[in-house]
Amino acid sequence: MNAICILGASGLVGQKAIALIDHLPNFEVTEVVASENRLGLTYEESVDWQEPRLLPNSVAKLKFKEPCEVTSPFVISSLPSSVASKIEPLLAQKGKHVFTNSSCFRLDPNVPLVIPEINQDQLKIVTRQPTPGKVVANPNCSATFIALALAPLLKLSSISYVSVVTCQAISGAGLNGLSAYQILGNIIPYIQDEEEKIALELAKILNIDTRFIVHTTRVPVINGHTIMLHIHFDKKLHLENVKELYQNLSHVRLYEQKDRPQVFRDIGPYDDRVHIGRLKLVDRVLGMVVMGNNLTRGAASAAIRNLLTFVGDRSCASSQLSSRLF
Ligand SMILES: NC(=O)c1ccc[n+]([C@@H]2O[C@H](COP(=O)([O-])OP(=O)(O)OC[C@H]3O[C@@H](n4cnc5c(N)ncnc54)[C@H](OP(=O)(O)O)[C@@H]3O)[C@@H](O)[C@H]2O)c1
Repeated sequence: MNAICILGASGLVGQKAIALIDHLPNFEVTEVVASENRLGLTYEESVDWQEPRLLPNSVAKLKFKEPCEVTSPFVISSLPSSVASKIEPLLAQKGKHVFTNSSCFRLDPNVPLVIPEINQDQLKIVTRQPTPGKVVANPNCSATFIALALAPLLKLSSISYVSVVTCQAISGAGLNGLSAYQILGNIIPYIQDEEEKIALELAKILNIDTRFIVHTTRVPVINGHTIMLHIHFDKKLHLENVKELYQNLSHVRLYEQKDRPQVFRDIGPYDDRVHIGRLKLVDRVLGMVVMGNNLTRGAASAAIRNLLTFVGDRSCASSQLSSRLF
């Protein structure tokens, strides 16, 4: 078994990672790190477990450690960026390979920003990192869903411009992110730094020179981001060709129904796919609705996929991973 340490193990992404790794054959969570308030406490006595799957027994009894005590060769990090920017390089110096959800190194030219189905060749740039351990980042949750929707389309035409409007769930802001008073019956039309991240990260992942205009909103949905895209192509497309591309991808679920996808009906707690519907073509502009589980595909399973790709774990090759993680 390969040992994994989870940084930020008490948070929403950390909990999701623990629930997912428990179903992987070759890996186990052996260490947990969170804020210093939990040092020395066991996981089960100090964490408000939110996952529908039961807390694995092997994790329940683990005691929270300090980052300097980590011995596992692999680390999944779900720390706030301000903390990750200090802890992750220290672990890399100690030879740990860090797969991070935080945004602090995503645009660093020496750090791969990877979605395995799209750009796993970017992993090779880790050789530019001078440390014995390497840092590999996964993108912002909305950027991940948009990239998975756009990447296949680049086979049909280059894209000059994309209009993006997101409706992001409250779980995207973390366990203590928003009060009920702030979000119930409300839509907040701005998420700090999110719009810049989405545009810059998409350019790095897809290696394209496309303009993005992005509005991000927080909506009173517990989990699952829904994103409206209008994609301006340089050539005229045919809707049937677009559908055919998506239908052939195991990580995409394509909907023909006019009222789908819906977060309430279509994504489960361990859903690892991108959901696409409402396809509409007007001249060179393709409109669509893209949806995904922000805690799973947008965060925890994105980091786990990068780890598995990094180590070349063929038992969980991309197409099989979805069914394993559901
Ligand atoms: N939520 C999402 O949908 C999503 C999607 C993509 C990426 N991300 C990124 O993933 C990371 C985690 O997000 P989250 O939603 O899981 O947040 P969260 O629920 O707020 O969890 C944050 C975690 O970080 C720990 N932490 C906070 N301050 C710390 C410190 N000074 N030292 C050590 N640990 C500390 C917390 O420990 P305590 O509980 O002890 O405070 C907790 O375990 C963030 O960088 C976020 O931007 C989140």
